[in-house]
Amino acid sequence: MGSRILLLSLAALVVVALCAPAEQQRVRRNMVRGRPRGGMKKMPIRDPSVQIDAAVAGTFQQKLDHFDASNIGTFDQRYWYNNQWYKDGGPAFLMLGGEGPEDPYWVSTSSLEWTTIAQQQGAWVFDIEHRFYGQTHPTRDMSTDNLKFLSSAQAIEDAADFIKAMTTKFPQLANAKWVTFGGSYSGALAAWTRVKHPELVFAAVGSSGPVQAEVDFVEYLEVVQNSITRNSSACAASVTSGFNQVAQLLQTPAGRQTLKTTFNLCQSLNINDANNIKYFWETVYSPYMEIVQYSGDSAGEFATQLTISHAICRYHLNDNSNTLQKMKQVNDYFNMASGYFGCNDIDYNGFIEFMKDTSYGDAQSDRAWVWQTCTEFGYYQSTDSTKSGPWYGGVNNLPVQYYIDECTAIYGSAYNSDSVKAAVDQTNKYYGGRDNLTTSRIVLPNGDIDPWHALGKLTSNSSDIVPVVINGTAHCADMYGTSPHDLQSLTDARKLIASTLDGWLKA
Ligand SMILES: *[C@@H]1O[C@H](CO)[C@@H](O)[C@H](O)[C@H]1NC(C)=O
Ligand SMILES: *[C@@H]1O[C@H](CO)[C@@H](O)[C@H](O)[C@H]1NC(C)=O
Ligand SMILES: *[C@@H]1O[C@H](CO)[C@@H](O)[C@H](O)[C@H]1NC(C)=O
Ligand SMILES: *[C@@H]1O[C@H](CO)[C@@H](O)[C@H](O)[C@H]1NC(C)=O
Repeated sequence: MGSRILLLSLAALVVVALCAPAEQQRVRRNMVRGRPRGGMKKMPIRDPSVQIDAAVAGTFQQKLDHFDASNIGTFDQRYWYNNQWYKDGGPAFLMLGGEGPEDPYWVSTSSLEWTTIAQQQGAWVFDIEHRFYGQTHPTRDMSTDNLKFLSSAQAIEDAADFIKAMTTKFPQLANAKWVTFGGSYSGALAAWTRVKHPELVFAAVGSSGPVQAEVDFVEYLEVVQNSITRNSSACAASVTSGFNQVAQLLQTPAGRQTLKTTFNLCQSLNINDANNIKYFWETVYSPYMEIVQYSGDSAGEFATQLTISHAICRYHLNDNSNTLQKMKQVNDYFNMASGYFGCNDIDYNGFIEFMKDTSYGDAQSDRAWVWQTCTEFGYYQSTDSTKSGPWYGGVNNLPVQYYIDECTAIYGSAYNSDSVKAAVDQTNKYYGGRDNLTTSRIVLPNGDIDPWHALGKLTSNSSDIVPVVINGTAHCADMYGTSPHDLQSLTDARKLIASTLDGWLKA
């Protein structure tokens, strides 16, 4: 029966293909609040010799609501562990999942920074998936009502209960010192789990963690500008000239047609639709943001291809093309190297509809992550900076209000300027923000070309809160395995992270 249906469907497909004009595939590839399509903590380059089956997979029955004892709901939280490096009396390392699916690769790859330290320390390594991401579905769907169970505070209590349960399940770990790890949002979580549960978590390494919440994250685009300028001021001059030329072309029908061709847009630009134009600006900026955020990371294409110099300045410093051609080349190269084939979708309303899908479908991670920005963190990458806005072609191109209005459009009128501001204040109060992490034994690595480092903790007056600012590296660079391209600053940073932890564990 199956084959008959298949034949019929094939026949139908042929008919459709013959009748319909060849339509390009639409690509919605913009970063969403600093989150690329695949997640913020990039997967390391896969080493084909790595045996994923070194990881043991499990699920843990987790409480739905840690803050309401009358709620008896539970869900299955995915986790993996690997004890091949464990030595009697060794510590337990826990990688916290963030705003995307987790992967057993993290516990089974021996060349990563944290697994290298695990081998030195004889540690047992665990990785848990964050609630509402990947296959960890706490509720039937992701309706706004159900998303109320999605917060960093719940995720931290998930980690705490997980630690207690594993300590019972594996009696060898009864007295183990637990160290939390994470990168990006989960880097902040790693630090905050130590802040909230010092009795369970001995130390934390939070890579590129934005531990300060902020509604209008103007510094993000300032750092993108600075990082390109640091590599080449002539390149930066060409990039800003490009953005300003786009702003000019938007003013006329002929110019808008040129932009449609240049950026291979699926739809025409509608100058009477402010959201359509702002969404287009996101499309223009997004490759520059994502390339800078991961430039040089030993993770897939970012190691050598999608770098500031190779993917941006190689084109912008080419005297044989005009400014618009340079922008087209950056855009096309970014899409090609990232595996996006098709036209760039700039349908704002279509994006909002996509984000309103309450199933655990294609929008799952974006819907969950944007929810967390609307109800906890802000982190809105606006052009509101008077320093940088003009560099991007105008301070009004992406105002913070545009992002807040998306909270309202996606989740409802209760999510607005007032609620986002109150939520961000509450987050900084709950965790202490950058300047008030009232605990000890936290290492906080940050690369200083990464736009997110602007919300990280970069200085400390306490000898056991240790920021590690890495000159010239991008987001979470310290988490990956060593590579021949590593800067000396990165090699030194990895040594400092390992020796700091070693000092604490041996004390
Ligand atoms: C720009 O980046 C390239 C590749 O990473 C590097 O070789 C070059 O030294 C950088 N230039 C500056 C001025 O940092
Ligand atoms: C830091 O936290 C303490 C204790 O919670 C609080 O009294 C103080 O006001 C906080 N300081 C800042 C700058 O937030
Ligand atoms: C460190 O101490 C100085 C002087 O007391 C203070 O001004 C500064 O804010 C402190 N910095 C941090 C990151 O706590
Ligand atoms: C970072 O590295 C660059 C190039 O190697 C150097 O010029 C600069 O002084 C360094 N910055 C710091 C803060 O060490």
